[in-house]
Amino acid sequence: MVPFSTAALFVTLRVLLLSVSISRVGAVPVTSTSTNSTAHSKVASTSSSYWVANIQRQGTVAFGDSNYTVFRNVQDYGATGDGSTDDTASINAAISDGDRCGEGCDSSTITPALVYFPPGTYLVSAPLIQYYYTQFVGDAVTIPTIKASASFTGIAVIDSDPYGSGGVNWYTNQNNFYRQIRNFVIDITSMPPASGACIHWQVAQATSLQNIVFEMVQGGTDNAQQGIFMDNGSGGFYSDLVFNGGNYGMFVGNQQFTTRNLTFNNCATAVYMNWNWVWMLKSITVNNCGVGVNMSNTPTNQTVGSVLIQDSKFVGTPKGIITAFSTSGNTPATGNTLVIDNVDFTGSTDAIVSYTGATILAGGSVVSSWAQGNAYTTGDDSSASTGTCASAAASASSTTIQAPLAAPTKPAALLDGSSVFERSKPQYESVPASSFVSVKSAGAKGDGVNDDSASIQAAMNSLTSDQILYFDHGAYVITTTIKVPSNIKMTGEIWPLIMASGTAFANQASPAPVFQVGQPGDVGAVEMSDLIFETKGPAAGAIMVEWNVAETSQGASGMWDVHMRIGGSAGTGLQSDTCAKNPNVTESYNPACEGAYLLLHVTAKATCYLENNWFWVADHELDLADHNQINIYNGRGVLVESQGPVWMYGTSAEHSQLYNFEFANAQDVYAGVIQSETPYMQSNPTALNGGFTPNATYFDPDFSSCNGDAGCEKAWGLRILDSTDILVYGAGLYSFFDNYDQTCLATESCQVNMVSIECSTEVYLWALSTKASTNMVTVDGTGVVNQSDNMDNFCQTIAVFEGA
Ligand SMILES: *[C@@H]1O[C@H](CO)[C@@H](O)[C@H](O)[C@H]1NC(C)=O
Ligand SMILES: *[C@@H]1O[C@H](CO)[C@@H](O)[C@H](O)[C@H]1NC(C)=O
Ligand SMILES: *[C@@H]1O[C@H](CO)[C@@H](O)[C@H](O)[C@H]1NC(C)=O
Ligand SMILES: *[C@@H]1O[C@H](CO)[C@@H](O)[C@H](O)[C@H]1NC(C)=O
Ligand SMILES: *[C@@H]1O[C@H](CO)[C@@H](O)[C@H](O)[C@H]1NC(C)=O
Ligand SMILES: *[C@@H]1O[C@H](CO)[C@@H](O)[C@H](O)[C@H]1NC(C)=O
Ligand SMILES: *[C@@H]1O[C@H](CO)[C@@H](O)[C@H](O)[C@H]1NC(C)=O
Ligand SMILES: *[C@@H]1O[C@H](CO)[C@@H](O)[C@H](O)[C@H]1NC(C)=O
Ligand SMILES: *[C@@H]1O[C@H](CO)[C@@H](O)[C@H](O)[C@H]1NC(C)=O
Repeated sequence: MVPFSTAALFVTLRVLLLSVSISRVGAVPVTSTSTNSTAHSKVASTSSSYWVANIQRQGTVAFGDSNYTVFRNVQDYGATGDGSTDDTASINAAISDGDRCGEGCDSSTITPALVYFPPGTYLVSAPLIQYYYTQFVGDAVTIPTIKASASFTGIAVIDSDPYGSGGVNWYTNQNNFYRQIRNFVIDITSMPPASGACIHWQVAQATSLQNIVFEMVQGGTDNAQQGIFMDNGSGGFYSDLVFNGGNYGMFVGNQQFTTRNLTFNNCATAVYMNWNWVWMLKSITVNNCGVGVNMSNTPTNQTVGSVLIQDSKFVGTPKGIITAFSTSGNTPATGNTLVIDNVDFTGSTDAIVSYTGATILAGGSVVSSWAQGNAYTTGDDSSASTGTCASAAASASSTTIQAPLAAPTKPAALLDGSSVFERSKPQYESVPASSFVSVKSAGAKGDGVNDDSASIQAAMNSLTSDQILYFDHGAYVITTTIKVPSNIKMTGEIWPLIMASGTAFANQASPAPVFQVGQPGDVGAVEMSDLIFETKGPAAGAIMVEWNVAETSQGASGMWDVHMRIGGSAGTGLQSDTCAKNPNVTESYNPACEGAYLLLHVTAKATCYLENNWFWVADHELDLADHNQINIYNGRGVLVESQGPVWMYGTSAEHSQLYNFEFANAQDVYAGVIQSETPYMQSNPTALNGGFTPNATYFDPDFSSCNGDAGCEKAWGLRILDSTDILVYGAGLYSFFDNYDQTCLATESCQVNMVSIECSTEVYLWALSTKASTNMVTVDGTGVVNQSDNMDNFCQTIAVFEGA
C-alpha cells in the first residue's frame, strides 16, 4: 500500500480532477428506479422514542429542487431490519434517491441526505454507498446493527468513496467533505476472517464518526479484518468508537486528523498508522491487543509524519507502540515524530519498541511526557510575565531527542481528573420530538431569500428551558444581529445554512456579529450543533459568530460540527462565475468577492468547547460544474481572547487574509490538532492588500516587520500574543502556493513565516508541522525554527516548541 501516488505533491493538495466526463450513475446494487420517499408505499417503520424518528420533516433545499427529499428513513424504502432479508438494495435506494452527487460529480451542496436507520438488524451483501453530503444516523435510543452477510463482497460495509471505473475514486479524497455516521453496530463476524472491513472512510474536513461499535472476528492466524480502512484524505474527526477483534482495529492514513475516546479490544493491532502528517490519538484504551499502535511503515523512508498519544491506556498489550525512529540517520529527518502525554503503559511489556525489536522505553509505568523528534526551547521563561517581550533578539536551541520531558503544567480548568476534558456532541436521545421547536413552524422560511431574522430571534426568545431549537434544512437569511440567549440548545437538520446579508454586515469600519452568543459577562449553557454559517454575497463587516458566554459547568457551552463556508457554493453569490482566480494579472482585491470580517470571535470573558469545526473560506467551487479555483477575500479566521477554558478538538481554519488562528490576551487554551492553509492567491495580492485594513481593536497583525517583503506579508497560520498557557497538541499549518504557483515548494519557501509568538509565556506547541514556510516559528519578530532542519515526509515537523 503506497501512501502517496507518484504525483506526491499533487495528491496532497486540494486540486481537482479535471474534465470528469462520467455521467452520474447509481451504485451497483441500486435499482434504476429513482423515487423519493413520498412515492413509496410506506411500510410501518419500527417505532422509537428517538426524536430524529418522530420530528415533523420540513427541511428543503433552498438553492436546488424544492421538492428534493432531504430526510430518508431506510424502512420507507423497503429495508426491513429483520436480520434475514437482504436490505442492501433498499438502503442504497434510500441513499441515492433524487439526483444526488454520485460518480463523476465530485461535489454538490444542494443534494444533502439525512438517512435514518430505525432499530433493527440490517443484513447487507454489498457496500452501502455513502454519497457526497450524506449523514447516516442510526437510532440513538436503540442502536441498529448493520450486518454483513457471509457472502458479502466489496471494499467495506459502508463506503464513503468508491473506487469506480478505471479504479478512480468517485470523489477527490481531500475534497470529500460533509459527512457523518453515528449510532451503529457494524458487524462483519459472519464473513470469512480473511476479508472484510466495516467502514471505508476516505474523507476530508467536516466529517465525523460517533458512537459506533465495530464487531470483527477475534483471533485466528488468517484474520485480515479491519474496522476502519482509511487510505487517504484531508482531515476529519471521530470519537466514541469501540473496536472488537480484527487484524487492525483501524488501518489509517490522512494529512491531519483528530480522534478521541476509542476502545480497542482483542485486535491483533489496534491502530496501523499507514501514513500521515499529524494524527492525534486522545483517550484511547487498548485492551488485550498484540500491538497498540504500529507507526513503523517503511523504516528506510518513513511514511508516518507524526503521532500524538494523550490520556491513554494500554492493558494486556505487550507492544504499546512500534516505531522506526532513530536518533541517528532518520529518514526523513523528523519522520515518526512521536509525542506521549499522560499515557498508562502499565499493561505493556514494551511501551515503545523499535521495528527491529529493540526496546526504546520499557512498559510498566505511566509516562507523563515523552517525545521523539526535534525539540526546541527558548529556555526558562518562568520569570517572564504576560505582556513582557524579549528585549534581545529571541533564539531557541534544538536537540533531536528520544526521551522523557518535564511535563507541562496543565491549567486545572482544562482538566477532568488527570486528563484533558472532553465532551461528545449531544444527541438529545432522551428528549421527545415534542420538545423541539422548528424555526420553520415559528415562521422562518429558510428559502434563501426571505429575511428570517425576526422570526428566528422570536423563536429563540420564546423557548422554555426544556425546549431545543431545530433548524429544519434550508437557508436562513439574517440581516440583523441575532442575540442568542445565554441558555439555549439548538441543532440542525444536516447543516442548514445561516446566511449573513445586507447593510448591517457590509462595513468593515463597524463590524457586527451575525450570531451574538450571549452578552459579554454572561454565564450560561449554549449548545450548537450541525449548522453551517455563510454569507450571501460580500459581508465585509460580518463577525459570523461572536461567543461571549462562559460555562455554568465544565464544557456546558460549545459548538459541535458547526462549520463556516464562505463562498464557493450555491446561493452565496461568491462562486466561480464571479470570483474565478486569475493569477495572470496583478490582483487588487475585488470588493464583489469579499467574504466576512471574522469567522469566530471567542471574547475575553467567554469559555468555549469546540469540536470538529471547519472555518473554510472556499478555495474552489463546490456546485458549478467547472469546480474552478476562486478568490474569496475573507478578513480573519478564529480569534480567541478568552481567559479559558477553551478546548478545540479538530479545528480547521483556512484561507483568511490576515490570519487563520489568533490567540490574543488569551489563557488556558487547549487545541487537539489545528489545521490551516494560507490563501492560494497570496501574495497576489498580499495580506495587506487583500481588502482588510488591520485594526488594533481586534489585535490584527500589521506585518510592519516585513518591511514590504511580499513573501512575508502572508496570512499567519497561528499568531499568539500577550497570552499564557496555550497548549497546542498537533498542528498542520500549510502554505502550498504563491499566487497559485507551486515553484516555491521546491525550496519550501512559499512564505517567510507561519507561527508567531509575541510577548507570551507558557506556550507549548507539540507535533507542529508546517509546509513551505521558511521559518516554522517566529518569536517576537525573529525566526527561531528553520524549516530546513526539520524535514518530514511532506511537511516540516518538530516534536515540541516550548517557551517564549
Ligand atoms: C413540487 O411538487 C409540487 C407538488 O407535487 C408540484 O406542484 C411542483 O411542480 C413541484 N416542483 C418542482 C420544481 O418539481
Ligand atoms: C419526489 O417524488 C415526487 C412524486 O413522485 C416527484 O414529483 C419528485 O420529482 C421527486 N423528487 C425527487 C428529488 O426525487
Ligand atoms: C489513496 O490511497 C490509495 C491506497 O493507498 C492509493 O491507491 C491511491 O492512489 C491514493 N490516492 C491518492 C489520490 O493519493
Ligand atoms: C466514550 O465513548 C463511549 C462509547 O463508546 C461513551 O459511552 C462515553 O460516554 C464516551 N466518553 C466520553 C468522555 O465522551
Ligand atoms: C509493523 O508494521 C511494519 C511495517 O508495515 C511491519 O513490517 C511489521 O510486521 C509490523 N509489526 C507487527 C508486530 O505487526
Ligand atoms: C522517500 O519517499 C518519498 C515519497 O515517495 C520520495 O519522494 C523520496 O525521494 C524518498 N526519499 C528517499 C531518501 O528515498
Ligand atoms: C476597528 O474596529 C472598531 C471596533 O469595531 C471600529 O469602531 C473601527 O471603525 C475599526 N477601524 C477601522 C479602521 O476599520
Ligand atoms: C492564464 O494564463 C494561462 C497560461 O497562458 C492560461 O491557460 C489561462 O487561461 C489564463 N487564465 C486567465 C484567467 O486568463
Ligand atoms: C536555514 O538553514 C539553511 C541551511 O542551513 C540556511 O542556508 C539558511 O540561511 C537558514 N535560514 C534562516 C532564516 O536562518
